[in-house]
Amino acid sequence: MGIHLERALLFCTLLVLTHGLEIPDPDHIDYIRQQAKAVINTTVSLKCGSSMPTLFIWVFSKTEFDSSEALAYNYGLGPKTLPLANTLGDPFLAVNTSSLQIMQIQAEAEGIYTCQALYDTDKGPRVTFYYTHLSLQGQQNTAKGSGSV
Ligand SMILES: *[C@@H]1O[C@H](CO)[C@@H](O)[C@H](O)[C@H]1NC(C)=O
Ligand SMILES: *[C@@H]1O[C@H](CO)[C@@H](O)[C@H](O)[C@H]1NC(C)=O
Repeated sequence: MGIHLERALLFCTLLVLTHGLEIPDPDHIDYIRQQAKAVINTTVSLKCGSSMPTLFIWVFSKTEFDSSEALAYNYGLGPKTLPLANTLGDPFLAVNTSSLQIMQIQAEAEGIYTCQALYDTDKGPRVTFYYTHLSLQGQQNTAKGSGSV
C-alpha cells in the first residue's frame, strides 16, 4: 500500500513537472479571471491569490488559442524564472509570494498569464487557475490618437 502511494505521488510530481499542475477531478478546480492594463516600460505585478500556494506555475500564451509556455514556478524548492520570462521584460518572483512581477514590461508581454496554484488543504488538494489578460499601451506622452495631423 505504501508503495502504491509513493508511486502515485511520484506520478503526480512528474505530471506537475512536465505539464503544470494536473488534478483529474474537475470539482476541485476553481477558475478566476481578471483583466489588467499597463504602460510599456513600467512594472506589472500579476497576482496569484492572496495566500502562498503549496506549488504554483505561471504560464503565458499570446492568445487563448495559442499554446501556453512556462514563465516561472515554485514547486517548493524556491522561486525559478525561465528564459521566456526574460523576453517579456525583467521578471521577478519573490520568496514567499506567488505574484509575478515584471519590470520594464515590453510590448511582446501583452497576452494571457495563467497561474496554476495547488493548495494543500485538510480536505485534500485544491487547484485554482488565475487567468490575467494583460493589455499594454505606449507612454501617454506619445500623443497617439490625439487627432492632430
Ligand atoms: C519565508 O517564509 C518562511 C516561513 O514562513 C520564513 O521562515 C522566511 O523567513 C520567509 N522568507 C522571507 C524572505 O520572507
Ligand atoms: C521603453 O524604454 C526604452 C529604453 O528606455 C525606449 O527606447 C522606448 O522608446 C520605451 N518605449 C515606450 C513605448 O515608451
